[in-house]
Amino acid sequence: MSGAGDFPLLFERSREGRVGYRFPPPDTGVAGAVLPESLRRKAPIGLPALSEVEVVRHYVNLSRRSYGVDLGFYPLGSCTMKYNPKIEEQVARLPGFTAVHPLQPEEGLQGILALLHELTARLCRITGMDWGTLQPFAGAHGEFTGMKLFRAYFAKRGEQGRTKILVPDSAHGTNPASAHLAGFEVVELRSSSAGVVSLDEIAPHLDERLAGIMLTNPNTLGLFEPDILEISRRVHAAGGLLYYDGANLNAVMGKARPGDMGFDVVHLNLHKTFGTPHGGGGPGAGPVLVTEALRPFLPAPDIASREGRYLLDYDRPDSIGRVSGFYGNIGVLIRAYAYLLALGADGLSAASEGAVLNANYLRERLAGLLELPYPGLCKHELVLSARRLKDECGVTALDVAKRLLDYGIHPPTIYFPLVVSEALMIEPTESESKEGLDAFVEIMGEIVRDARENPSLLRAAPTATPVRRVDEVLAARRPIVRWRRNPSET
Ligand SMILES: Cc1ncc(COP(=O)(O)O)c(C=O)c1O
Repeated sequence: MSGAGDFPLLFERSREGRVGYRFPPPDTGVAGAVLPESLRRKAPIGLPALSEVEVVRHYVNLSRRSYGVDLGFYPLGSCTMKYNPKIEEQVARLPGFTAVHPLQPEEGLQGILALLHELTARLCRITGMDWGTLQPFAGAHGEFTGMKLFRAYFAKRGEQGRTKILVPDSAHGTNPASAHLAGFEVVELRSSSAGVVSLDEIAPHLDERLAGIMLTNPNTLGLFEPDILEISRRVHAAGGLLYYDGANLNAVMGKARPGDMGFDVVHLNLHKTFGTPHGGGGPGAGPVLVTEALRPFLPAPDIASREGRYLLDYDRPDSIGRVSGFYGNIGVLIRAYAYLLALGADGLSAASEGAVLNANYLRERLAGLLELPYPGLCKHELVLSARRLKDECGVTALDVAKRLLDYGIHPPTIYFPLVVSEALMIEPTESESKEGLDAFVEIMGEIVRDARENPSLLRAAPTATPVRRVDEVLAARRPIVRWRRNPSET
């Protein structure tokens, strides 16, 4: 078996007796120690035998096969794959941060606690909320935490009968999943013809069973909810709460605040908006921020400040308890803090302006090439449809995405949001220059031309990548994630 393309794996390069590293002789204490028989290996471990240069080449070659925002354009809608300045990496790696231990006494943790406390306060100022927790590890984890807060709030008020959560059909899949997992009944709201939530659609659900509504604003179509203030007024009047999925905050930060729109609970994706790359299953942080009314239920411990000292406050009788082992993904939180300090309030607004300007520039330039199901200004992302292309020449959104790989560009998100058929969801982010956007438009133009004149080229794409088009259904159902010396071995 070979690796992708003609790329032999380390085991295949192995030659008996070849060595790349020699261990230093053990010191006398270790040499004299005898491992109990039961712990000793019965057979050699079978590691590949290689020289140092072979190992170095292997990993350098592998690294050249992975794509990232440091290599090129990455317009993966909803994921905000923007460039993250390297200074944040350096700050997160300062020994004063990396060497602390979460179980150290509080006196030795004053620096990091001060940072976490100040970060929470800054995120509250940006969102218009009162206090929060930094514990959740991802957006979905924040949503789940927020839904638990809803439950605790209603339980305290003796309103356990409030079990319905309204979620628009354009929402990220994690929204209904989180609400369901927290024990709520999810009611799907159909988007209006304009792609937003309509007051008529929520009207029948405004009763004593309503727990609340989960909204992403701007939504996953990149559209700002024009009736948000009225939605908020009506949901509150019916006794419900509003949850803000802030994964798209990069469109409005420094411009509009969920707290001012009437939201009660907000989560942010620091790993999209504030200095940490999103995607690849990497570390994230989904802080949850709340209004005063929900503050007592926040996870314990709270990072509090009293008489000039910071402490971990566990004395929280109404808290939903811990939602993470310790205090969150500290490295991601430090990066976010560094990002906020570096940009300042003006920088944050400028970042939102850049994200929205870039998305609208692409919307204007790409509208002639593919269908734009929801015309008009968008916020930070735009959704196109390849439906016409599919009807005319049998080329799908998937084919367009695969062909982009041949041009060395990461494709947009496809087939999401579900309300658009053959969707291509493009989020250029604020990091891209006009020249970079123009180059993307040129490439999209060539691809659409090829789709009409030579559709087989698109159906066969990608042809210039080390791995060609894979059977995605098979890959999902029967993933092969372990190398075996003998492939027939189970
Ligand atoms: C709108 C929206 N909500 C929620 C999430 C979930 O965030 P996470 O992937 O961190 O769980 C995402 C992820 O990209 C998102 O785009």
